[in-house]
Amino acid sequence: PRRVRTRHFQNAKANGIPITGLTSYDQLTARIFDQAGIDFLLVGDSAGNNVFGYDTTLPVTVDELIPLTRAVAHAASRALVVADMPFGSYETGPDEALHTAVRFMKETGAHAVKLEGGVRSYKQIRRIVGAGIPVMAHIGFTPQSEHGLGGHIIQGRGSGAKQLLEDAHAVQDAGAFAVVLEMVPSAIAAKVTEQLSIPTIGVGAGPDVDGQLLVWTDFAGMSDGRVPKFVRQYADVRTVLFDAVTQYRADVESGVYPAPEHSYD
Ligand code: KIV
Ligand code: NA
Repeated sequence: PRRVRTRHFQNAKANGIPITGLTSYDQLTARIFDQAGIDFLLVGDSAGNNVFGYDTTLPVTVDELIPLTRAVAHAASRALVVADMPFGSYETGPDEALHTAVRFMKETGAHAVKLEGGVRSYKQIRRIVGAGIPVMAHIGFTPQSEHGLGGHIIQGRGSGAKQLLEDAHAVQDAGAFAVVLEMVPSAIAAKVTEQLSIPTIGVGAGPDVDGQLLVWTDFAGMSDGRVPKFVRQYADVRTVLFDAVTQYRADVESGVYPAPEHSYD
């Protein structure tokens, strides 16, 4: 299959074809999602919670994300792979941002990078795009600044709508090829989508956007914690695995496994 490229994102928006994305942190899931035709795979800093077991995304480092991103990029033959730039790897300015983006591009085989922030990240996005690296922007609720935002709070409500629109236009002007809108009311997401020429990718932004993105462990029912309201659980993989493990343990303990057909003469 031909590789999805940033121009396909542009074409999709122009033709009203929804774009699909999932997070992935390893080659097993990357292969499955790629074969199922998902357009882009985000190696999110949500690996902080879902792979490394941190309480937030804040502690995740570039050094931790690079091997995961490399595994996903190596496994995906069609999907566009996006490397998420973690907290502390771009905030000080465009030089630091470009340095981090270059590391991801050189060391992983990813096709684009993602970073959080609208107006505040304008210079960073511009510099990275100027070096020939596609940038997916991320505005609305931005988990790396959850302490500044005061928690997991829906963004773009009331007077926040003006800020969200400013952020959206800023990332487009800076050269981002797409923008993730996280946890914003559907009506404002629709407005952003209508005003922008680049595609909007919603995660908790309702149906009137150009594409959707979900954290795979949420959508597949892998986590035992609670999932956000906007997630539809398409599978209960945790229960499938739990039951399999429980059965395996029982079979070993009762001597049913291994059976003769699993044994060498
Ligand atoms: O890290 C992540 O999974 C993300 C998406 C939820 C947007 O940034
Ligand atoms: Na992220």
